[in-house]
Amino acid sequence: MAEQRQWDPVKLLEAAKAVRENAYVPYSGFRVGAVFMDAEGHLHAGCNVENAAYGPTNCAERTALFRAIADGRQAGEFQVAAVIGDTEGPISPCGICRQVMLELCEPDMPVILGNLRGDYKLTTVAELLPGAFSKRDLAK
Ligand code: THU
Repeated sequence: MAEQRQWDPVKLLEAAKAVRENAYVPYSGFRVGAVFMDAEGHLHAGCNVENAAYGPTNCAERTALFRAIADGRQAGEFQVAAVIGDTEGPISPCGICRQVMLELCEPDMPVILGNLRGDYKLTTVAELLPGAFSKRDLAK
């Protein structure tokens, strides 16, 4: 029997939209929210947190994933992620977050990318970073 999906993209985007409100964005004004669902179905939420020195800025995706790891969740256990921002089309995660997702999530994990207009698309961690260098390259 085919595995039943335990999540609804619209509900996940709503949860990402809620945490987006907490974004600390004095420089860009561009709020982003992200949620990652763990193996038990719990959501780990994050927003972007900016910095006057710009470089230390943490994107919503990394905030959510790092929170989840700090809370004791395991790399590879996440079932799905959703990210939302006020973009024209579905939001496009930055390269650093794509690399971090590849480190902490399975390559075939679904990622829902949305915007405030209700547009969204479904992709995967691997699709977001084709040709990536990953931990699999280090395992000889
Ligand atoms: N940002 C995210 O948090 N996630 C994304 O997917 C794209 C960009 C943040 C970083 C920065 O705080 C602001 O959006 C503008 O780049």
